[in-house]
Amino acid sequence: MKHLRLGVNIDHVATIRNARGGVHPDPMRAARLAEAAGADGITAHLREDRRHISDADITRLAEELTIPLNLEIAATEEMLAIALAHKPNASCLVPEKRAERTTEGGLDVAGGHNSLRYYVESLKGAGIRVSLFVEAEPRQLEAAKKIGAHIVEIHTGAYCDALDAAARAHELERIQKAAVFAEELGLECHAGHGLTYDTVAPIAAIPTIVELNIGHFLIGEAIFSGLEPAIRKMRSLMDDGRRSGA
Ligand code: PXP
Repeated sequence: MKHLRLGVNIDHVATIRNARGGVHPDPMRAARLAEAAGADGITAHLREDRRHISDADITRLAEELTIPLNLEIAATEEMLAIALAHKPNASCLVPEKRAERTTEGGLDVAGGHNSLRYYVESLKGAGIRVSLFVEAEPRQLEAAKKIGAHIVEIHTGAYCDALDAAARAHELERIQKAAVFAEELGLECHAGHGLTYDTVAPIAAIPTIVELNIGHFLIGEAIFSGLEPAIRKMRSLMDDGRRSGA
């Protein structure tokens, strides 16, 4: 049985930090904690609008992490230059504009008329493993192989968002078939987007998927598993402070 790697996406730690514009909570601290908790890698998406992760975050992650960094970027010259400057272990090309997407949300590699090949080749030339975030569609996987990607990351959003059991089973089957096809093509297969405690097990059971990237749910869930001790600690510091002033 192959080890299933967990890449923890820390983008939304930065979302909370940016709500106040300061330095807390620090995504780097979250990355260290993720590593201590058993994450195999850290994923961060540097968006063109910098709405969460910043350039400075990427610099620190690239310099200080001891586990692999997977840098998610749009296929643009600006992002390519940043990836080449930092040389993360892997880079996942993701769509940021509507026109780059297939109907459900992955990168439209098949309809991209080869425009992604340049980015794949440039990243590969720098020794970076290249992943393409795609829907569970055979033609997207074929196109990913054709332009030289090492990895496909299958979009699990439609599976996670399915409204009923039949729809979810249908989406799961598409992902299972795509994961088998990826292996036949010689592509490493990852998956992610929207995974939760309720949806992760059937995806984790697919033997040809070797990595899951999970972020939003984990950061949100940390509120519920971590808020209570944080409040208790504040209560205790307040009580200590009040006593010491008495
Ligand atoms: N994989 C890719 C390619 C993504 O873009 C994202 C979201 O940034 C994820 C995985 C993680 O998705 P979520 O935050 O919903 O767990």
